[in-house]
Amino acid sequence: MKHKLIAFEGIDGSGKSTQIRLLAEYIKTSGQQVFTTFEPTDQYIGKIIRDIFSHRREATQETIAGLFVADRLEHLLNPDFGMLRQLETGHVLTDRYYFSSYAYHGVHVDMDWVIASNSLAVSRGKADLHIFIDVDPQLSLQRIHQNRENIEMYETLDNLVKVRNQYLLAFEKTRLTENIVFVNGNQPPEKVAEEIRIHFNSL
Ligand code: TYD
Repeated sequence: MKHKLIAFEGIDGSGKSTQIRLLAEYIKTSGQQVFTTFEPTDQYIGKIIRDIFSHRREATQETIAGLFVADRLEHLLNPDFGMLRQLETGHVLTDRYYFSSYAYHGVHVDMDWVIASNSLAVSRGKADLHIFIDVDPQLSLQRIHQNRENIEMYETLDNLVKVRNQYLLAFEKTRLTENIVFVNGNQPPEKVAEEIRIHFNSL
């Protein structure tokens, strides 16, 4: 069986990291190898992005969108830790992938440009499945406030609503070429995990 690349998507506070952990545990229990990873990465370009988000550096929205493209290519293609290398030996679950760029940057710059600038990542490393954990922006904001001290650049209700709408638009634009499923993220985590396992098993 070919190993699968699965991207988890959702607005901030949608519970992606919990669900990645639960699916990774499930895959391991079934005796298969799995890697979990995330974007922005903790490599050098990802660090620049985090510096911008925490206002230690300044950058335009266009530059931020471009940095994410570069970070993603490194994430995919790096010969030592890249996802293509990991896929040789196991499944890969990534917390965010190119749809995050379509949604988050499509608010600020033309979405078609964002899609075009990610085309190399799509052609070299298209995800076998994108799981969109769909959560009510009100609920996600409550979770963000419960769990964290520093609220990042995009975490206001208005923005969460906008980003969710941009995700919907991006899914609509790409639905003929991408495998996207929605899971209801307003449910308890174990219920969400159950739905995700069903999607994984049908790959
Ligand atoms: P982080 O706190 O690391 O992740 P999360 O909120 O998923 O736990 O912050 C990631 C932020 O980066 C998040 O607000 C979405 C944003 N982002 C983009 O703007 N563009 C992208 O391409 C990606 C992958 C993330």
